[in-house]
Amino acid sequence: MKKLAIDGGEPAVSAGALKPWPPIDERDKKAVLRVFENQVLCGGGAPETAALQKEWAEYIGRKHCLATSSGTAALHMALAAAQIGLGDEVIVPAYTFLASASCILHANAIPIFVDIDERTYNIDATKIEQKITDKTKAIIPVHLHGLPADMDDIMAIARQHKLIVIEDACQAHGAEYKGKKVGSIGDLAAFSQNSSKNLCGGEGGFFVTDNDAYMMRGDMLRMFGDEIDDETKLRVYNASILGYMYRTQELPAAFTRSQLQRLDENNAIRQKNCAFLTEILQEYPWVTTPYVPADRTHVYWMYIVRFDPKRAGVDLSPREFRIALEKALHKEGVAVGQWQIMPVPAQDLFQTKIGHGKGFPWKNNPLYDREVVYRAEDYPVASTLVENYTAIIGTNPPNGTELLEMYAEAFRKVFNDLGAVVKHKDDDMVAHFSGRVFMAA
Ligand SMILES: Cc1ncc(COP(=O)(O)O)c(C=O)c1O
Repeated sequence: MKKLAIDGGEPAVSAGALKPWPPIDERDKKAVLRVFENQVLCGGGAPETAALQKEWAEYIGRKHCLATSSGTAALHMALAAAQIGLGDEVIVPAYTFLASASCILHANAIPIFVDIDERTYNIDATKIEQKITDKTKAIIPVHLHGLPADMDDIMAIARQHKLIVIEDACQAHGAEYKGKKVGSIGDLAAFSQNSSKNLCGGEGGFFVTDNDAYMMRGDMLRMFGDEIDDETKLRVYNASILGYMYRTQELPAAFTRSQLQRLDENNAIRQKNCAFLTEILQEYPWVTTPYVPADRTHVYWMYIVRFDPKRAGVDLSPREFRIALEKALHKEGVAVGQWQIMPVPAQDLFQTKIGHGKGFPWKNNPLYDREVVYRAEDYPVASTLVENYTAIIGTNPPNGTELLEMYAEAFRKVFNDLGAVVKHKDDDMVAHFSGRVFMAA
């Protein structure tokens, strides 16, 4: 048995082997230079933005697309365009990125959380109905990690209770549910093109819908409340509704268009890389690899695994075991660590409930007098997940066999020597994944 790197052995992964996402090449540089040559830098109807909107709508099969400054902006626009607001409740999974829920507060509505499914980590559709009240207006399913949520069940519940469905597809560009691209199933959807995402623009987002009224309102909301993008008309500078400034710019739009040409190719590489990892990791019955139901595709924005100390015969808590493994793998040169560290309702925002100030919209709200309590223990699946999951970074192109063979060697070394791993459980080192940066302190 080779000595573990945490015990002073040679790391399995060579320094610098992990390549950053996204791969940027001459095609991207040319696209960005085109903007400088055109000398049009912004505008909802500017050429790169307009072309990107058309290309994305065609790609996912939707009538309308508005490019935005972020996924958060697109989510807020979706709620506002559907006129969800004061006095309304919106259902959202308890485990996701904050913005899936904070957009509800931005719209002055109340987030109501539902636990996630044990295998997909998406909203547990069987638990939605018990959270529906006379105030519920919408459901925001999130296609978490790149895996589509149970959209048939969610749409059926929504139709029965006359609820609007806003897909949070921020992590799932190109993923398909029963042959349909995510973002084309609900009433509206939001995507994020922030730099870690499968379709990258640096920052950016998409608001998409087939509904003409939502589109018209979305267009007004995106630009100050009146500015429908029509190059043939003069700007009137007369806001008719309360809007925002959520436009994107031509530079990220041009870059995103160039990256979009390679989205399918890049997703296919991710899928191949993840299949390779899954095959290696399935040799260990105490490691849970991602579950992909047969009716959908996973585009692996993030690849996560879970560790079960009991099945591994290790006398540590799930949290202790996970951290011990993260330390040993990190020393071998594998980029591992956690992304979300608690269920969303456990975050301070939902514990202090200061909101917009003075407790609004939970308190001092003329249209809402119910007491909503957010407790992590009400979401046992999400709370258990954060104890024992870790993300493995390196499945994005341009990474491939070269890196993953080294990862495989690292996993075998560490997983076949759990006795040595456990000895370091109290070492003063924290492995935590943050955006694109993996930090070990
Ligand atoms: C699930 C989810 N929703 C919303 C967002 C918000 O997107 P953005 O960062 O572009 O505002 C993100 C990403 O950050 C996300 O992962």
